[in-house]
Formats: sequence, structure tokens, C-alpha cells
Amino acid sequence: MPALVHQSFSQTASGLACDGVSIESIVERAGTPLYIYSARAIRDAYRAIDEAFAAHPHAIHYGMKANSTLALVRLLRSIGSKVDANSRGEIDVALRAGYQPPDIVFTGVGKTREELEHAIGLGIGAINAESAGELDRIAALASAQGREARVALRVNPDIDAGSHPNISTGLRINKFGVPLQDARAIYRDRRGAAGLRFVGVHVHIGSQITTAEPLRTAARALAGLACELRDDGVALEHVDVGGGLGIPYEGRPMIGPTDYAAAVIPDLRRTGLPIVLEPGRSVIGQAGALIARVVDTKRFPDGRRFAVLDAGMAELIRPALYGSYHRIVPIRPRPQPDAAWDVVGPICESSDVFARDRMLPPLEVDDLVAVLDAGAYGSVMASNYNRHLLPAEALVDAGGWSIVRRRQTIDDLLALES
Ligand SMILES: Cc1ncc(COP(=O)(O)O)c(C=O)c1O
Repeated sequence: MPALVHQSFSQTASGLACDGVSIESIVERAGTPLYIYSARAIRDAYRAIDEAFAAHPHAIHYGMKANSTLALVRLLRSIGSKVDANSRGEIDVALRAGYQPPDIVFTGVGKTREELEHAIGLGIGAINAESAGELDRIAALASAQGREARVALRVNPDIDAGSHPNISTGLRINKFGVPLQDARAIYRDRRGAAGLRFVGVHVHIGSQITTAEPLRTAARALAGLACELRDDGVALEHVDVGGGLGIPYEGRPMIGPTDYAAAVIPDLRRTGLPIVLEPGRSVIGQAGALIARVVDTKRFPDGRRFAVLDAGMAELIRPALYGSYHRIVPIRPRPQPDAAWDVVGPICESSDVFARDRMLPPLEVDDLVAVLDAGAYGSVMASNYNRHLLPAEALVDAGGWSIVRRRQTIDDLLALES
């Protein structure tokens, strides 16, 4: 009987497997470092959110910034998801994945003129504007095209999401949105403006939020604004609560989609409007693992043990960027007692560390390990630092697997250079 390690990952007689498919067998053909995703886990996570909000009209716009690998975006489209794009590049990936412009909401704190023109010309479902100035630029650009842009204003409610400062976005010290208290006047002053059609209100207070309270408070603030706008005669079509629901990286109990829905629906219901959700991490995070090989081990006189992997901050930057925790599981754990290991990457930076003093069974050169919960903000943030080539990505589905992004080659990399 396979022992469930985590979500789709179980220990079997042939080592760690993803939905029954041996990871060693994938690595044999695909090499390391390698991202592996479970299609089943993605579908399950999406459906859990969809079902939690079933009692209220809603649309899930998957936050592509978490992971925009084409095959995964296509998979989400096939099960009914729409998307939240944060750049021209993400819009173009969504279109290639088969989405229609009305399925896309476009967010982003620094949209360029060219990006706005493109979005307006396409007829994007909603452009979430980040400032009064941006609204005015959208109005001018849309008028010049003889079009009406569908817009929502992103508000900054000054709420502490309780997550890492680098991924909190809803405090007044953050660069995102407009102060909540200014929003009503911004809508009022632009009612009937040529080129603008107000379709929603938007908030996103941060990511990896692990308690219900900040999400409830933000939804309440947004609902209050939507009701004021209704009183002002602004006919909105939705309230967009952004993303932010966290995942249990450390395996501790935390809120899930049902608690989230229970926290936000009562206030949002008052608006009488459908809810737009932009979950990223909670859809894709737990479905992915980064598979790496141990390339060196060493022990210092103070007893500190290092395992150096062939993957580091170039492939998965979250630990170096946020000090974030990822569980690390050997593909074939040795039956000897655990000891404390520093699991590090090969990059020439001291911050290139996946884990310090992590209790793990003995590790040896050529062993494979899985860094769990790496589906979100993993491959999308990978870089070519130290001329690392972007890792391959594989999708496991229905007992089989396929490469959904081949490993970058040095020729791919140098094709851009003279
Ligand atoms: C505007 C917006 N929507 C949605 C998301 C997705 O957030 P998460 O992955 O935390 O669900 C983000 C990411 O921070 C975002 O900036």
C-alpha cells in the first residue's frame, strides 16, 4: 500500500511517485532539475474552490502569475476556469491557451501604454486599474480607438494580510491600488466618461494568507464600496476579491476554500453582485514538486552537514526571496535515522539555501529529492542566473506523463545574443 506523503505524492516500492507514476522513471528520461505537476491535484484544488463558492454566483479567474506554463493554463481552461493576467505576456499566453478576451481580467501595478492599448483593443473582460491616472489614460486610449474599456478600480483597504511583507499588498505603505477612502469619488468623478465602462471593484491584499480574518475584512470593505457605488447609480457587474488564499507549506492545519467562502460570502452577498476570485497559489501550489539531484555532500568540523543539489535559487527562488519553507522528501529515503542537514543549491550566493537544519535520512551523491509545494511561484520565477538553463516541466495525468516544457538549451539561451 503506497504511503501518502503529500497530496499526489506517495512512497511506493519504486520510490516516491506522483499519482502512481514513479518519479525515478520520469527523471530517467527528463533529467533534473525538473518540475513535476499532478493534473489531478490541479483539478481537485480548482473544484474545491468552485464548490466552496457554489452557493453564490461566481467566476474563478486563475491567477496566472502563480504559474503560466501553457499546458497548465490549458488544463484549467478545460475545467471551466477563467484567468487573471498581470502583463501582456500573460494575456498572450492565455489567448494561446484558447481563452477569449472576455475571460481575462488584467491586473498590474505598472501597465504600459502599449499593454493598455493591446488590452483595450482585445476587449478584455475587465482591466483592474491601479490609480485615477491610469483610469484617465485608459479612457483616453479607449476613446482614441472608438471603444469603451471595461474597468474596475483596485482599492487598497490598508489591511494587514498577516503574510510575509514581500507578498502583502493591501497596506497603505504598499504600492497597490488607490486608498479605499478615495475610491468612491474617483468613480463619481468619472461616471459617464467617454471610453470607460465601470464593471467592478477590485481588491487583492496579499498572498499566502493563512487566516480568514484579513480576507473577511477586505471583502467587507469592498462590499461597502460596491453598495455606495450602487447608491451613486454606478451599475457594476461584479466584485473581485483577488487571490491570496494560502497553502499549508509546513503541513499545519489552516483555512481552506470552505472557510474562505464562509468568511467572505456573507458581506459580498449584500452587493447582489457575482463574485470574481483570482486564486493562484491555492490552485497550483500543492500540485507541483521540484525534483533535484544531490551533487555533493560534506560535513564541517562543527558537525554541520550540507547536501548540495543541482537546483537552487535559479530554479526555485522562494526560500532565498522570502525565507519560505518547503518540505523536502528523498525519492528513496534510506532506513537509517534522520540527522540535521542544510539543503543548498549550487548558485554562488549564500542565500541559495532551501533548508537549514532539516531532519532528513542520510543523503548521498546522486540521490534524488523532491521539494514539495513548488507548483506556485516556482518555475515562473526561475532565472538563468549562473547560466542555469530553465528546468524541464512534466505533467502527470491519468497514469501517464508528458513533458509540457522541455529543458532550455544553451542554444535557446544564446539565440538572443550576438
Ligand atoms: C492581483 C492579483 N490577483 C491574484 C493573485 C494571486 O494570488 P495568490 O497566488 O496568492 O492566490 C495575485 C498575486 O499576488 C495578484 O497580485
